[in-house]
Amino acid sequence: MIINKEDITKLSHKNDGLNYYEFSQKIIYGNIKPSKEILNIADSVKLEQHKYQKNNFYNKAPEDIKKGEQIFNHFKKFFSIIIERFGYKNFVFEHWWLQKYNPLEFIDVHTHGNSLNQFSYIIYLRCSENSSKTLFYLPGYPYVETQEPLAITPKPGLCLFFPSYLPHSVEPNNDTTRLIMSGNIRAY
Ligand SMILES: [Fe+2]
Repeated sequence: MIINKEDITKLSHKNDGLNYYEFSQKIIYGNIKPSKEILNIADSVKLEQHKYQKNNFYNKAPEDIKKGEQIFNHFKKFFSIIIERFGYKNFVFEHWWLQKYNPLEFIDVHTHGNSLNQFSYIIYLRCSENSSKTLFYLPGYPYVETQEPLAITPKPGLCLFFPSYLPHSVEPNNDTTRLIMSGNIRAY
């Protein structure tokens, strides 16, 4: 069974006199609808077909470097607020890429880094009700058994911000629309 974020609040603990220490992970999310201009810029970024989906993770056309900054800048204020929630004052933009999914395309469990001050983001630029979910797992997965993953349903403009060490994956997709921007920042 997959635990959706809507179900988390329904989880309760028994009042049986026992205390517990709980370690949890924080994924901060917000919604910033991308403007038509930003979507047009995103659509014009050159992507290459890789094994699982189209992206520009490995190669970026020189003219696309500025486009990545333009898209990121659209969401930058949101990131500045979030970084304070994690206890930092500032950040540097480290890496970005776009990923476009066609039917049945997916991505295996992976992480983006292992430093405490490294954070990653996923921005759903284009999606539909048939876009596949992103699944988040507790640190250690898949090498250790953890609780069932947290499943996030894509919504246009939904931005997820999370520690880069959090394992995550994308289920096989069901539309021709799903386009995301992802990347890493380093906070200080
Ligand atoms: Fe990722």
